[in-house]
Amino acid sequence: MPYTLITGASTGIGEVFAYALAKEGHNLILVARSQERLEQIATELRDRHHVKVEVITLDLATPTSAERLLERCQQKQLEVDTLINNAGFGMMGSFDQQDLDRVQEMIFLNLVTPTKLIHLFLPMLKQYQGRICNVASTAGFQPLPYTAVYSATKAYLLDFSEAISAELKSSGVSVTTLCPGPTQTPFFAAAGIKIDQTRMIRQTPEQVVEAGIRGLKKRKRLVVPGWLNKLMVFSVRLAPRSWVLSIGQFMMGH
Ligand SMILES: NC(=O)c1ccc[n+]([C@@H]2O[C@H](COP(=O)([O-])OP(=O)(O)OC[C@H]3O[C@@H](n4cnc5c(N)ncnc54)[C@H](OP(=O)(O)O)[C@@H]3O)[C@@H](O)[C@H]2O)c1
Repeated sequence: MPYTLITGASTGIGEVFAYALAKEGHNLILVARSQERLEQIATELRDRHHVKVEVITLDLATPTSAERLLERCQQKQLEVDTLINNAGFGMMGSFDQQDLDRVQEMIFLNLVTPTKLIHLFLPMLKQYQGRICNVASTAGFQPLPYTAVYSATKAYLLDFSEAISAELKSSGVSVTTLCPGPTQTPFFAAAGIKIDQTRMIRQTPEQVVEAGIRGLKKRKRLVVPGWLNKLMVFSVRLAPRSWVLSIGQFMMGH
């Protein structure tokens, strides 16, 4: 049986995806940098759900990480029918004060690697009429001051995913873009964001993943979990761009 490959499976939304999909009997390939944590999760999932779980430890924020991930799967003769591009991180603060190397890593992780992974794994995914899930964000629907590059990476992922979902329709491969709003994971701490500084209401990663898996199964093009996030996305589409900018700035606590 082929595997579901999940990037960023060591914590947060990716980890919850791993637990939920293993429970449904899917074999998994877990990818992230934290080897010990991934091995722990893999052991628990094998014991609990009797599925095959492979661990690939890799930094996905480098120019050639997508090629290396495909190579590692080929060496282990792992066939992939579902690709979940979930790994990502955010950065908060004024753009001119941000570390440029870190900004570049974020661009690689959040958009270059997912784009390349889709291209490289597509021949395999087509064989299985497989599924792709790209984890973008509600941040991708609007420009967000003080997290400008992050929201722009998610806008890219959202547009790119929706466009290729149309291109790939005849191939049988579906592309689902999952756009969570603020979610209770280590994401905020990793981004240097004190959640109390923002005006955000957060969902649990379980709520996000439940909506994501439902959407993946139905091969939905876009999944925005939670009525509040849906309302936000809908209003952003109608509101003047200048209002959207001001509201975004307010939400980020400025
Ligand atoms: N939490 C939110 O509020 C929220 C909202 C909207 C969208 N999202 C999106 O949801 C996705 C998952 O985020 P999360 O909330 O679950 O955050 P998280 O708990 O911080 O998880 C991020 C995952 O990405 C992995 N990762 C980070 N840098 C990596 C690298 N260089 N190479 C390989 N893996 C790397 C991390 O593993 P290692 O550190 O072990 O490498 C971890 O497994 C992200 O794309 C994020 O943008 C999150």
